[in-house]
Amino acid sequence: MNLSLSLNPKFYLEKIRPTNFRNLDNSVIELHPLLTIFKGPNGHGKTNILESVYFLMQGKSFRKNAEISQILSMNSDVAKVRLEGRFVDHEKVHTTHLEFLLSKELGEKKRYSFDGKAEAQLRKFPVVLIQPQSSYIFFSASEERRHWVDEALENTDINFRKIFRKFEKIKFYKYQLIKKSMVSGSSWKNPEINSQLNFLNQELSVVTKYITDSRNDLVQKLIPSFARIFGELFADNLQIKLEWQSLFNKKNQSEIFEIYQAKRELEWSKKKLLVGPHLDDLIIQSKQGSFTQNASMGQQKMAFLSLQFSLLDLFLGNPELHDPILLLDDISSEFDGIRWKNLIEYLRSYPIQMMITTARDSADFLPLKASNFKIIYLNDGRVTNST
Ligand SMILES: Nc1ncnc2c1ncn2[C@@H]1O[C@H](COP(=O)(O)OP(=O)(O)O)[C@@H](O)[C@H]1O
Ligand SMILES: [Mg+2]
Repeated sequence: MNLSLSLNPKFYLEKIRPTNFRNLDNSVIELHPLLTIFKGPNGHGKTNILESVYFLMQGKSFRKNAEISQILSMNSDVAKVRLEGRFVDHEKVHTTHLEFLLSKELGEKKRYSFDGKAEAQLRKFPVVLIQPQSSYIFFSASEERRHWVDEALENTDINFRKIFRKFEKIKFYKYQLIKKSMVSGSSWKNPEINSQLNFLNQELSVVTKYITDSRNDLVQKLIPSFARIFGELFADNLQIKLEWQSLFNKKNQSEIFEIYQAKRELEWSKKKLLVGPHLDDLIIQSKQGSFTQNASMGQQKMAFLSLQFSLLDLFLGNPELHDPILLLDDISSEFDGIRWKNLIEYLRSYPIQMMITTARDSADFLPLKASNFKIIYLNDGRVTNST
């Protein structure tokens, strides 16, 4: 029995009032502290509501190229977009207010206030957004998977960000060195180049060790919860395991240095950096081989969600990190009825606020107790009914 069910989350948005925000009606939307489900046909404003929540919490849209002029309702006669919110953070109520004025003469003017007082900078609150394309993107390239891991680390370890920037700088210098020699035709054995290269590889091995250890450390922490959550959601005996794939795993600094040094000649002839943390990968193995490559769309979605939830599990236990609001946009399409029910059941156990958009039938939510969630029906940007 999970006691958190009867408690409100530490952080939640009570209500939001968008004004002239895309196709949304200018009225207050009251949210459930735990789970609000937005239901309605395609193109009626479900994602717009999530976008408004994201905007108020992050000061920006999650949509690409979302200028204020595009967000401003096409039906509005004043050039003003406004978002007002009321939220609860550790039992204290706050109000937040963001406004954009657009004019031909002055361009875009932004105003923000927190608890009724004007402030220059918007206060940001964490939001985790999952969209239908998120899992597709994640499985499409190793770069995306590295980015997923690195972003999680950057959010939890200030040193990681610094060291990662340093790594990128050294990598850049090393690449410049190779390029310069390409032009001049110098060999890597040229004493001056050789000593620069040794120095850069030495520096690289220091940051590579930190980056690899941090990534491995995170992946190790995710392994058990990932497997458990995937099993619960997917209800299948498909056993999968996360793994950080890297040449540098369990290597000490001088071994890492040797790995870099051994590649000098080949890197010189190929004019490319052939080893480094920029080539490592987060992979998912199953008994049937590489899950990363063979899984179906539905399996990939489940795996991606399981990964996100296992990361959330890790964050929720950390008192130094602020609990996020979770936004799940239209993720139900690849799931069959049972998996969708499993997912909703699973989400109930989370002590954070969640908002889900779906075109699915409300019958799918029947296993939920009425007090644990709210369904908001949307029609043409307007709330028509809520239960
Ligand atoms: N600036 C705007 N003014 C009015 N309507 C807009 C604006 N921007 C987008 N829309 C409308 O919003 C709708 C899309 O809403 P969206 O939230 O993405 O739908 P869904 O319910 O499928 O998630 C479209 O009908 C689009 O025309
Ligand atoms: Mg949508």
